[in-house]
Amino acid sequence: MAIREIITVPNPLLKTISEPVTIIDDEILLLIDDMFETMYAAPGIGLAAIQVGVPKRILVIDISRDDEARNPLFFINPEIIDPTDTLNSYEEGCLSVPGVWEEIERPDECTVNYLDKNGDEQSIRCQGMLATVIQHEMDHLNGVVFVDHLSKLKRDRAIKKSIKSRTSEPKDDK
Ligand code: NI
Repeated sequence: MAIREIITVPNPLLKTISEPVTIIDDEILLLIDDMFETMYAAPGIGLAAIQVGVPKRILVIDISRDDEARNPLFFINPEIIDPTDTLNSYEEGCLSVPGVWEEIERPDECTVNYLDKNGDEQSIRCQGMLATVIQHEMDHLNGVVFVDHLSKLKRDRAIKKSIKSRTSEPKDDK
């Protein structure tokens, strides 16, 4: 397992529409392991493969709190169906947009169909924070980052703020 580099805005790769996984082989399983390791190290609660530069439809998520046991979830070729009309608003952040948090409204509940490691079809109904995180990560597979849900003015400001937050950090002398 290895920690992979997370790409950040304005890297154009983040606008890629990721391809479905056709064969779940060792390379895919290694990618999933690396995605978990990368997400936990960041630390973050969700990561899409494109965020480590791999345009495949794979997500990893763990929304357990620090005082809870880890609850790693992964989704291969996920699809969202039956979103509710009721919206929920969470303050979202993203490992690819560091230093920025914004309130985003999304359906409060949805169902996710996906494949597990054996290629078997699975389905879960998600609500609350899990529904939000899954929809945020699904956006990445379609080339969308959460600030794209903001007005152009707010989005441009958010991306500038993210870039500035990184360049103003003290650099390691490596
Ligand atoms: Ni994100």
